[in-house]
Amino acid sequence: MTEHTTIVVSTEGRVGKIQLDRPKALNALNQTLMEEVVSAAVAFDADPDIGSILILGSDKAFAAGADIKEMAHQDYPSMYASDWFRRWEDLTELRIPIVAAVKGYALGGGCELAMMADIIVAGESAKFGQPEINLGVIPGMGGSQRLTRSVGKAKAMDMVLTGRHIGAEEAERIGLVSRVVPDEQANPVAEEVAELIAAKSKPAAQMAKEAVAASFETTLQQGIRLERRLFHSLFALADQAEGMSAFAEKRGPEWTHR
Ligand code: CAA
Repeated sequence: MTEHTTIVVSTEGRVGKIQLDRPKALNALNQTLMEEVVSAAVAFDADPDIGSILILGSDKAFAAGADIKEMAHQDYPSMYASDWFRRWEDLTELRIPIVAAVKGYALGGGCELAMMADIIVAGESAKFGQPEINLGVIPGMGGSQRLTRSVGKAKAMDMVLTGRHIGAEEAERIGLVSRVVPDEQANPVAEEVAELIAAKSKPAAQMAKEAVAASFETTLQQGIRLERRLFHSLFALADQAEGMSAFAEKRGPEWTHR
């Protein structure tokens, strides 16, 4: 088992869990945490016994952003040479569905990490924001792009230019999160969602994610063509035959994830 210093990694059935664990720094995302989260997620993605990933924070903060103390003394050559934050993109390349449970602050990189998940379950205390403007910078982990695609220009400009935090209710209203639940329910509900997804046929769930994600990247026509090709390709898998037979025989499907 790999030793981690900033996260706790575990599995529960077919769900791979990554708990952010820098509570004293409100789970600020330093370079070590980035590497640990992405490496753990990449390993879960490749594991045939894992069907979804669940990312959890603490009660006070999902994550209060990239680690400001770590960045404060960087300069342009060091940021450019290391391509600071690039590793996070590997998380967005994964095919396995990712669920995030957000309570408390999800600011800056914390909001951006949550948006890298496919489904966000928010507790009522969740506060989302892109406050980088207050530090004299702008979002750097995809916030200006993913937030805009997710909630549209009006709200994205409002959040990115003013740095204001929005609560869970507004986040749900504008389409940033999938569900809002009482705080004590956030982790259990997110876990239930992750379990439900992990109990599906893995290739079908992966292709469903791929198809929906493609809508952010392609024209409507290209996206619809991709969807149809993926749909056709699922007929090469045993799980399609099993799913449809099980329906006809009025029983639950037994997926082989193949
Ligand atoms: N980086 C480093 N440390 C952080 C941090 C961050 N993003 N956010 C909080 N911390 C640390 C604080 O420095 C403090 O540490 P000490 O006890 O050693 O002083 C500890 O966490 C607790 O924080 P506070 O005392 O500030 O807690 P609070 O309840 O008074 O305030 C808060 C909470 C409003 C979230 C406040 O901590 C805050 O504004 N944090 C910064 C939020 C922010 O600007 N995020 C964007 C970062 S830049 C970025 O993310 C770039 C990008 O696009 C990827």
